[in-house]
Amino acid sequence: MRISRLQEFLAEKELDGGIITSRENLYYFTGSAPVLGGYLVVTPDDALFIVPELEYEEAKETSKVPVEKFKTGKELYERLSGFGLRRVGIEGKIRFSSVQTLREKAGINDFELVDDVIKELRIIKAPEEIEAIEAACKIADQAMMAALEEISEGRREREIAAKMEYVMKMNGAEKPAFDTIIASGPRSALPHGVASDRRIEKGDLVVIDEGALYRHYHSDMTRTIVVGSPNEKQKEIYEIVLEAQRKGVDAARPGITAKDLDTIVRDVIADYGYGDYFIHSTGHGVGLEIHEWPGVSQRDETVLKPGMVITVEPGIYIPKFGGVRIEDTIVITENGARRLTKTERELI
Ligand code: CO
Repeated sequence: MRISRLQEFLAEKELDGGIITSRENLYYFTGSAPVLGGYLVVTPDDALFIVPELEYEEAKETSKVPVEKFKTGKELYERLSGFGLRRVGIEGKIRFSSVQTLREKAGINDFELVDDVIKELRIIKAPEEIEAIEAACKIADQAMMAALEEISEGRREREIAAKMEYVMKMNGAEKPAFDTIIASGPRSALPHGVASDRRIEKGDLVVIDEGALYRHYHSDMTRTIVVGSPNEKQKEIYEIVLEAQRKGVDAARPGITAKDLDTIVRDVIADYGYGDYFIHSTGHGVGLEIHEWPGVSQRDETVLKPGMVITVEPGIYIPKFGGVRIEDTIVITENGARRLTKTERELI
């Protein structure tokens, strides 16, 4: 069904075929994601997955699309030429050098992006995809629990991240969904403060942003704590971010646009006078990639629909003082949204 929608699109655009090469889309369309990649060739009425010889056995086991192997580049391009493709759909992510080679060695002279139709498909998650994301979120909850236990004065950020990543793998994750963020003290004002060798100090705000990769699907969650007892200012910004995050999760439902959801969250923070310190969008889609569609921002007017998976992650970042971010991964349901990351949010 996924491939048939792509085939319809190729026919609509009068393309001879499509060539898919990104690992996430190879997995999406074939169920197989060889480490060295491969070429999924889709024509309006056929599909073939061509992989390097050393990936052949595994691809044959896992792919829902017929698989062939190639030994040399020459063999690959001869096979591709055999399709007689002239106008072809490709992904924006394909390497420029690959496009040049397709042009020179496979006789393809016209390219068009298929990103929009792939987005249209992937933006709504199938039940089995939601199941995988939910499992990835459960692992993120376990890793967060480990972080909350481990964080204390004197520990290095990177040690905490290492412990969390160990817990992820012990609970079935392939790897972290991205470089785990442990941003303590003044570093908590950096939205992407990947764990460093800084030692955590008493009174620090600590932003913990993490997720796991499970069966090709990602999770994403952030919590913020204070080591020891929080001061008034820390408490104040925490309460504002928490209120914004709650309102966002409560407002997420079918029919609202991503832009309006961003506005609801942004207004809470702006009303308290901290609008200039919320320096990123409210959230993003999560799936085979950690950042996908829709963006929950002023630039994205996608109407939310059941099956979409997004994050709601407002933050306030005050340079030199520190920052707070609270984030959940949620799924849009028939009449609202359900949090897939469940670690409690009242941590300060
Ligand atoms: Co995120």
